[in-house]
Amino acid sequence: MPIAKFRHLHWGSKPDEQEKVALLNWIREARKMSLPKETPNVDADRLVQPIPDSIATDEAKVALGHDLFFDGRLSGDGSIQCHTCHQLDKGGVDRLDTSTGIEGKKGPINAPTVFNAAFNFVQFWDGRAADLADQAKGPPTNPVEMGSHSWDAIVARFEMDEEFKKEFLKEYPQVTKETLTHAIGEYEKTLITPNSDFDRYLKGDKTALTEQQVHGYELFKQHKCDTCHTGLAMGGQSYEYMGLYGDYFKDRGTPLTDADEGRFAQTKDPFDMHRFKVPTLRNVALTAPYFHDASAKELKDAVSAMLKYQSNVKQPAQKDVEDITSFLESLTGEFKGEKLK
Ligand code: HEC
Ligand code: HEC
Repeated sequence: MPIAKFRHLHWGSKPDEQEKVALLNWIREARKMSLPKETPNVDADRLVQPIPDSIATDEAKVALGHDLFFDGRLSGDGSIQCHTCHQLDKGGVDRLDTSTGIEGKKGPINAPTVFNAAFNFVQFWDGRAADLADQAKGPPTNPVEMGSHSWDAIVARFEMDEEFKKEFLKEYPQVTKETLTHAIGEYEKTLITPNSDFDRYLKGDKTALTEQQVHGYELFKQHKCDTCHTGLAMGGQSYEYMGLYGDYFKDRGTPLTDADEGRFAQTKDPFDMHRFKVPTLRNVALTAPYFHDASAKELKDAVSAMLKYQSNVKQPAQKDVEDITSFLESLTGEFKGEKLK
């Protein structure tokens, strides 16, 4: 079934039995096709899948991208790296409400993690970048992030470094905005975190989760959290409306900002207002605060809000919130063979 039809049948619509079967078949096929070949233990009927140990990359380009990710020369005054806001020892984020960029400038929105971003169908909360390389073109010249004046200035800085140039030109014909960001994107494909307790559970180790976590996973499925937080990254596969069963923004009690527009900022289609790319739940226990506006300070607050606004549970029971939260804690994976902290 083509994607446009799927959208018309989506939330709030009432497909008949035949449409439901057609839709489910289409979803099953689409899901199978979109999973990387390396995905272990695929059960195409299950909405969430274990993360593969690795995805195919070009090692030499990865090494160049790694160095760029930690290189202050992408920023106007040398002080800001990608890693400043996406710290690998902090779950791939900065753990701030909104990020702090060059000269202490505050950004408008909470930083999502770089871990497992490779599995996102598009990048950014509003999907304005098609892939990782495209995404990496943004921050260096963003005035409140890395604050470089232009890509020409950035390229010139790297051109001056003979050592860098020698290594870079072994892999790419030229130093350009495109090749620099391609290398960064290639590196980010290695920032995946397999082997969480939940992954081991999915692959058959039934002792990998506690009883409470197994119950939390049951609730997660029962409340259809997995329809949005789906796939390998348990998110990053669609734009969804924030506040399906209640006016989240009114209840928040603070004025609307541009960051609240979500996908609308790109399309100007009223349908897209307050629709956000669903964030990944992988390593979510490490990436507080939560939501694009950092309104949920702790994981249990985010779970409670999701039950209320996305799953129509008017008064979430404390025990259910605790069990789901405990389940989400089992999603912390390994990077380079070590469990993330
Ligand atoms: C000043 C802090 C800051 C810096 C520096 C920064 N980022 Fe980000 N990053 C953010 C914020 C905030 C967002 C979300 C912005 C949005 O969606 O509008 C983001 C989004 C992303 C995403 C999208 C993730 C997703 O789930 O959509 C990726 C990937 C990413 N950044 C990688 C990078 C790379 C690579 C660099 C270096 C070239 C970089 N970032 C530099 C703060 C930063
Ligand atoms: C209709 C789709 C949908 C459903 C169903 C849904 N979510 Fe979400 N979830 C979202 C969106 C969209 C966001 C981002 C909202 C925002 O930032 O404003 C989100 C954010 C989250 C976050 C915060 C992640 C972060 O990094 O900020 C958590 C945790 C979460 N959801 C858990 C759950 C749980 C648990 C359930 C089931 C009770 C659930 N979600 C059901 C769409 C959904």
